[in-house]
Order: sequence, then C-alpha cells, then structure tokens
Amino acid sequence: MMINKPAVAGGLPVRSRMLPLAAAEMTADDIQAVTRVLSDGVLGSGDKVREFETAVAEYVGAKYAVAVSSGAAGLHVALMSAAVGHEDEVITTPLTHPATSNCILYQNGIHTFVDVDPTTYNIDPVKVKYRITGRTQALIPVHFAGNPCELDLLHNLARENNLCVIEDAAHALGGCYKDKQIGALSDLTVFSFSDPQHCYTGEGGIVTTNSEELLEWMLVFRENGLVRDPQKMISPEGPWHKEMQDRGFNYRLTDMQAALGISQLARVEEFIKCRTDIANRYNRALAGHPAIALPQQNPRGRSTWHRYIVTLRIEKLKAGRTEICNAIRAENIEVGVHYLPVFLHPYYLWIGHPDVCTIEGSLCPVAEDLYNRFLTLPLFPSMTDRDVQDVIEAVTRVLNYYLL
Ligand SMILES: Cc1ncc(COP(=O)(O)O)c(C=O)c1O
Repeated sequence: MMINKPAVAGGLPVRSRMLPLAAAEMTADDIQAVTRVLSDGVLGSGDKVREFETAVAEYVGAKYAVAVSSGAAGLHVALMSAAVGHEDEVITTPLTHPATSNCILYQNGIHTFVDVDPTTYNIDPVKVKYRITGRTQALIPVHFAGNPCELDLLHNLARENNLCVIEDAAHALGGCYKDKQIGALSDLTVFSFSDPQHCYTGEGGIVTTNSEELLEWMLVFRENGLVRDPQKMISPEGPWHKEMQDRGFNYRLTDMQAALGISQLARVEEFIKCRTDIANRYNRALAGHPAIALPQQNPRGRSTWHRYIVTLRIEKLKAGRTEICNAIRAENIEVGVHYLPVFLHPYYLWIGHPDVCTIEGSLCPVAEDLYNRFLTLPLFPSMTDRDVQDVIEAVTRVLNYYLL
C-alpha cells in the first residue's frame, strides 16, 4: 500500500488552514432578524421569546415550551419543576457534558451514573433497572451526539417506579424516536441552542413539556421565583404587583437571541440533512478500516448527527489516542474528544460518590473505555466537498501510517 507521509513524519499537511470541528451557520436573514430587534429597542425578554417558544413547541409537537438562558439552565428548571430535592437520587449517563449532572448538584440531589451501551454510547436501560432505589426520583437520558436513546425501555422503567423522565436533548433538536419527534415523548425535554449546538441563539435553551403543571413551575423558576398572574397570587394588590413564591433564578432568554433562534429553526431540517449526508460520506470512506469502529445509530430513530465520533481500535495501532489526535491536527484538521466521563472530572472526584469503588474497580467501565478511544471529527453543514475529502484523507493517512 502506498502511504502518503503524514505531516508529523515530514510530509505536507493535507490542507494549509485549520478546519474547525464545528462552525455556526449564519446567514444575512439571521443577522437581519437580530438587528431588527435591536432597532425596535427591545433588549430584554419579550414577544420574540414567546414566538420562539411557540415555534419550537410546534416543531417538536409539544404543548408547551419555556425558553431559558442555556441548556444548563433548562436542565435546572426541569429538575426543580420535577421537585427533585435534597438527597433525591437521579440516574444519568456519565458520557456527557457535566451540565447534565450539575443540575442534580444544584438541587442537593445524589447523582447515580449508570454505564452506557457499548454500541450506541447511550445509557444502558438494562443497567438502569438495577440502580433504581426507593430514593430515585428521575432519569436523565442523553441522546449522545444526536443518536436517540431507547426511550420505550426507559419509559417502562419510569412508569413502574414512578420516576420523572427528563431527556437531555441538547444534541437532538430534530431527532426522532420511532417516527416521533424528540420533544414531546417524556415528561420534560431540554434542548440547548448554545454554541456549538446545531441550531444557535448564541447561548440559550428550551424545555418542552405536555404538562401544564410543569409549565407553570418552570415559568416561576425561570423568573427568580416571581409570580405576576393575579389569579395565582397569595395577596394580589394590583397589576403592578409581583410575588416571590419559590426560590428561583434569572434564567431568561433575550428577544435578540430568540429572533436568531426563530431564523435558525427555519433551517434546522436543512442542517440535519447536510449533517447526515456528510456522516454518510465519512461512513462510506472509513468503513472497513482496521483501526476504526464507526458510530452506530439507533435503527428505530433519526439521528441529528450533532457530532461524528469514531472509536479507535488502539490495539491495532502503534500510537496512542493523543499521538493520533496530534498527527491529525498537524494535517490542519481539528479533532476533539467527547466526553470525559463526568465522574472523572476533578470536581466530581473531589466531592466523591458512594459507589466510586465498585467490584470492577471502575464506576462505568464501558464509558471509561470508550472515552479512551473516542475521536471526534469535524462536522458542520457548511463543510464543502473538499473539506470532507480532506478529513477522510487526513484520517486515513495518519491511521495507515500508525497501523501495526
Ligand atoms: C449533552 C449536553 N447537555 C447539556 C449541555 C449544556 O448546554 P448549554 O451549553 O446550553 O448550557 C451541553 C452543552 O454542550 C451538552 O452537550
């Protein structure tokens, strides 16, 4: 086999400028939508936020949507509205952004990390079953990289054990499970619109639900715990009056962000199509390479392909993941690693966890093993054919060079 030398071995890099991992898709319409709000002088949270909420609720088929300042804020208001509190246990996956489990800490709850399925990288429902206790209040599954979780199995467990299901769908706007749009399938679903999600408001989030009761609580928690509706006040004094009825936060989104979100949402299907086409090209080009395993998608769903993450077969390579990452970067292709299992972050190690010492010696061995072999490649809708080809060329060049 003829092998082009990689840049780390003295060859010419595949391209001259770094290709990023992700990039915002901003059009003139997006910019105009934001500047129009600015020229109207509405800088806070107003009609555009309501319009954005309606648009997202309609798109995902949910009755209600509450816009918040980030996905992390969305997870927090969702958990508060589900009444998760002191020492309540919440089951989630370790293979995620720490925001998924930080909301449990904010509520002084107890996070229970359950290992992932080695093929889908999503939380393993069979293992979830054995970790439910009398103190478990909620499940937070994450649609990893946009690949839908096996929701039916999780919903059955939730029904049998009276648990609230809060989907972390930060990566999954536009994803489907069994032909149904993600966003109206569980008690609460949290989306992120922050950089680098595939539909942007700069920073932002939305929680969707079909429950009017959960909606009412979320509106209070997002608004510093304040109630404005005279019908719901303990002592209504007049239209000027506001009453704080619970501990809340300022988690409001602004109209500028909402205007960008409305404009972006109109193109989300187009974004997903572009992402899927690029992922399919990667799949075709990299299939069968002895040093790589490709991402498997849930056949009962539609992935949003938020990220393209391959698993290296380190045993077939004479270099470790760090060396491979550096070699691909030297070709001017950015790479990433998603995610360090949450319990391995220094803060989570400091605060400790009752089940850190397990029989196997690892809290979630599958997640830890995957993390050591994961490699994220660039994926964003405006990648050109040339960009995609460059990634394929760089990855194969480097892997072939280091192949045992
Ligand atoms: C799985 C997951 N959940 C939650 C979040 C938090 O979203 P935000 O950055 O909007 O707070 C992220 C952010 O990347 C994420 O990847």
